Amino acid sequence: MTTQKHWTETELLLDLEPVVAGELERHLKLAQEWMPHQYVPWSEGRDYDGPLDGEAWSEQDTDLPEAARTALVVNLLTEDNLPSYHHEIASLFGRDGAWGTWVHRWTAEEGRHSIAIRDYLTVTRAVDPDDLERARMTHMEQGFQNIHGDEMLHSLAYVSFQELATRISHRNTGKATGDPRCEVLLARISMDENLHMVFYRNMLAAALERAPSQTMRAVTDVVTAFQMPGSTIEGFARKSAEIANAGIYDIRQHLDEVLRPVLRQWKVWDVEGLDADGEAAREELDAYLDKVETAAQRFEARRAARREREASRAE
Ligand SMILES: [Fe+2]
Ligand SMILES: [Fe+2]
Repeated sequence: MTTQKHWTETELLLDLEPVVAGELERHLKLAQEWMPHQYVPWSEGRDYDGPLDGEAWSEQDTDLPEAARTALVVNLLTEDNLPSYHHEIASLFGRDGAWGTWVHRWTAEEGRHSIAIRDYLTVTRAVDPDDLERARMTHMEQGFQNIHGDEMLHSLAYVSFQELATRISHRNTGKATGDPRCEVLLARISMDENLHMVFYRNMLAAALERAPSQTMRAVTDVVTAFQMPGSTIEGFARKSAEIANAGIYDIRQHLDEVLRPVLRQWKVWDVEGLDADGEAAREELDAYLDKVETAAQRFEARRAARREREASRAE
């Protein structure tokens, strides 16, 4: 056990600035421009009721599976809340220097996601557009508040997991629609989310080198309290259960495809020189992952049993 310098938020922000600059440069080299309008089948579009006196939406307008439609709505509402996320990260990371450049670039890239998904949904009439608009109002009116307040390390850890979680959720939603056009669009969005994850994951790795114990504590706090960014959407519990049952985003994927790969990249189990709290945090993290593993096994068993019952009923 060692005693370590306790870094203030400002010291860390300043010390990480050159790392942000390097990561930003790498990001800009890898990020490819793409055009949201090219992914939308505009020729299928029809006017709606209202000022243009077209046809109101009806349930018969779509044959996309129910769970895929629920996931599309949850993913879109999550993307819609971008002004609140921007506010959170701009207040945390600041708007100056490389941090500021990143904050604005990230915001501009995220903005494309809601544009493209909404256009796809309204043109193909995949969901009730009136419901969607009302849900957007309700969701955005609540805003989004980072549960870890103004703690920078916590926020870096949170966004590392969250970007990967949205990547997986978008990709699996695309597959679940059975519509190859939607799949191509959501796969494209997933590529953006992946690059965002890599940026934040590398930033947190740099923090782990500088302030290992403080960073370990932040990682443990975030993993053990993780909530999807859209968790404040009305009816989220029911919607997320439907999404999990369809295998679009469930606790097994959260553990095996989000938590474990990111923790492995950070080599959290090999970090040396932790102080007493850093060691305690790592032990808590380990114990928590065991709990999630048990919960994932239970969930899988329940889901398999339910699917079997449904299959035998359908015979
Ligand atoms: Fe996004
Ligand atoms: Fe993202």
